[in-house]
Amino acid sequence: MKLIHLSDIHLTTPGGTIGGRNPRLNFERALTHILRDHHDAELMVITGDLSDWGDLDDYRWLKNQLDAFPIPVRLCIGNHDRRDVFLSVFPELRDDDGLVQGVFDTAAGRCLLLDTNEPETHAGRYCDTRKAWLAQRLTEHPGPFLLFMHHNPMPTHLGPMDQIRLLDDAEFRQIVGRHRDRIRHIFFGHCHLPLAGSVAGVPATSLRGTNHASYPLFSERRFLSASDLPESYGVVFFGGDYVTVHMVEFGYSGPIRTEGSTEYKDWNRENMVR
Ligand SMILES: [Fe+2]
Ligand SMILES: [Fe+2]
Repeated sequence: MKLIHLSDIHLTTPGGTIGGRNPRLNFERALTHILRDHHDAELMVITGDLSDWGDLDDYRWLKNQLDAFPIPVRLCIGNHDRRDVFLSVFPELRDDDGLVQGVFDTAAGRCLLLDTNEPETHAGRYCDTRKAWLAQRLTEHPGPFLLFMHHNPMPTHLGPMDQIRLLDDAEFRQIVGRHRDRIRHIFFGHCHLPLAGSVAGVPATSLRGTNHASYPLFSERRFLSASDLPESYGVVFFGGDYVTVHMVEFGYSGPIRTEGSTEYKDWNRENMVR
């Protein structure tokens, strides 16, 4: 089974830019790239920061894009999103607690879409209501499970970034740890960085978003860091006993040389001959 993971699309007003890049244009470029190479994906999940300012027009535009997209899509919200505005456009994604949490079954397992948004802060929260929801979902079904969320559930050790991480991350990991044998993978966003690790023993990955990119500048202690690294999305393959996660840098505009081509031969001779 194949799954597409997008994050941090940060839609904003038409023609508007973030980090010198146009989020709407880059989202459209990502969708086009995905349909070219991965039209057979079973599901696409966007793990939050859908709108940069939580504007109604961004969510309406997103809904129009997704309605015309042939691959099923599920959404998480992030710290830049406004839950009430989002739910006014996607009311079917409201759960019984008024949160944007849900369940979606795939061939690779049961997807749990988590809501880590906390109004008035960029940090994430997983409050008692959400913890109870997650524990219930993990208890009522045999799994396996795939978890999707916006905020990083483990520290990055980049100081400014960790100030806005999931602040309840230790308690979150305790819940995950109790069900670790039935959770295959955790996908998250928020950091705008390719990251891999584990959460209470469960593999976890993140990736650069489809617009602006971060950089792991460990010497900077106060402020978040940005770069011009390429826009990206993720492609995930699930086998019976493996998971493979790619970060596809669709925004890369340099050469890509295919073995056997003239360019490849020229490049190979220039670089490989001793
Ligand atoms: Fe973001
Ligand atoms: Fe975020």
